[in-house]
Amino acid sequence: MWHATVLTLFPEMFPGPLGISLAGRALASGLWGLDARDIRTAATDRHRSVDDTPAGGGPGMVLRADVLAAAIDAADISPDRPKLLMSPRGRPLTQSRVGELAAGPGPLIVCGRFEGIDQRVIDARELEEVSIGDYVLSGGEIAAMALIDACVRLLPGVMGKLASGTDESFSNGLLEYPQYTRPQVFEGRTVPDVLVSGDHAKIDVWRQNEAEALTRARRPDLWAAYQNRIDLARSRKSTTKG
Ligand code: ADE
Repeated sequence: MWHATVLTLFPEMFPGPLGISLAGRALASGLWGLDARDIRTAATDRHRSVDDTPAGGGPGMVLRADVLAAAIDAADISPDRPKLLMSPRGRPLTQSRVGELAAGPGPLIVCGRFEGIDQRVIDARELEEVSIGDYVLSGGEIAAMALIDACVRLLPGVMGKLASGTDESFSNGLLEYPQYTRPQVFEGRTVPDVLVSGDHAKIDVWRQNEAEALTRARRPDLWAAYQNRIDLARSRKSTTKG
């Protein structure tokens, strides 16, 4: 079973939103597992301290390497499980990395707090730093929840027949086309005619065009990557034709 092990100073934050709705139902029915462990239980001194002042001076506190390493080692995870550290310094999380993580046994996730974590434990335990975007949260817990949620919805049986997810944003490199439902007229705005035409070929073309226009306008980075992939596919085809 896919399993997430979370190391945090605030284990009571979990499962939190992951205990509700799609992920929560799947958790309750045993489609995935979660255990949130308190880093503080690995502290050894009288005061159970987990942090100390930064070497070289400066504001804030730094999570101690020995304490976090002991917490990671105590989790005793199998070596095939990825060890992640949620951090704004990390490589930005993508749908493709989410897909890889969902296909594996499930990660160990360290949630950072304070000003940072002693670099030596990141190096010694080979933690992969992962960011969920270019903004700073007060800790890694919410970032870990976002990552876990994105993985869980891809697990077999979690989304039912929606699971193919072929039309959704990013899976094909484009943002998702707009959706409509009843009523046919809302505050004078109608559902686009093509969507009520019953002509599915036409609907597919319309949706593709909308997805492309939206991606070009909002995400030039995704648009460029999408065009490169199309160009590459075209050139491959023409080479095979010879
Ligand atoms: N911790 C604080 N900010 C973060 C971010 N943007 N991504 C991942 N972890 C974080």
